Amino acid sequence: MRKKVIAGNWKMNMLPDAAIRFIDGLTPVVKDSQNEVILCVPYTDLFYSLLAAQNTNIKIGAQNLHWEEFGAYTGEVSAPMLKSIGVQYVIIGHSERRQYFKESDDIVNKKLKMAHLHDIKPIVCVGETLNEREEGKAVEVITNQIEKALEGLSKEQVLKTIVAYEPIWAIGTGKTATADDANSAIKSIREKIGMLYGADVAEEVIILYGGSVKPTNAKELFSMSDIDGGLIGGASLKLEEFENIINYNK
Ligand code: PGA
Repeated sequence: MRKKVIAGNWKMNMLPDAAIRFIDGLTPVVKDSQNEVILCVPYTDLFYSLLAAQNTNIKIGAQNLHWEEFGAYTGEVSAPMLKSIGVQYVIIGHSERRQYFKESDDIVNKKLKMAHLHDIKPIVCVGETLNEREEGKAVEVITNQIEKALEGLSKEQVLKTIVAYEPIWAIGTGKTATADDANSAIKSIREKIGMLYGADVAEEVIILYGGSVKPTNAKELFSMSDIDGGLIGGASLKLEEFENIINYNK
């Protein structure tokens, strides 16, 4: 049985004092949660968040890393740096990074390998644009992205990778994919992973849905056969909404 994973993506929001208050507020709520709860916070919140989340059920992740371990890359942060302060997860290939920072499939693949090399669990994002969906190319686009992202990874590494299916047209727009559409897209990702790494890996790998998940639609989405939880943007910034998403099955 795959467990449910609820990951927040704060993007470029939240100052350290707000981050600490948020984590302190969330701690009692998730104390007995069976679901894995992750908060992916801005770099400047990482250290404070890791301290605040010590001895709690909350895991802390970053939102990006560099594909090299060190070197002349002004302004960048590497996997060993994240690892050195105890970061356990990292988002890779979010559509905002692909779009605004020109991250290619090749860069996403290199970053994924670097995360695994330093034992940081990647949450790798794939998703189609509205145009691609309307042209009937969604499955082709996302299965291509997944194949390129995972290229060269071992079975064990794929099993330690969390995939997030995030249709670009649903991110921050209030438009959510229907539960059936999200589930069938995720099924096609699972099938692709099955073809590449075997049915056992496909059955076990955690695949999330992301794109305007809210307390009102979380239950329907997360109850689908292939959806193992969510990557939550906007609604992860409001404690009550995020709590209600985590406790969607209560
Ligand atoms: P959203 O963002 O929940 O605000 O749509 C999701 C994401 O970008 O990961």
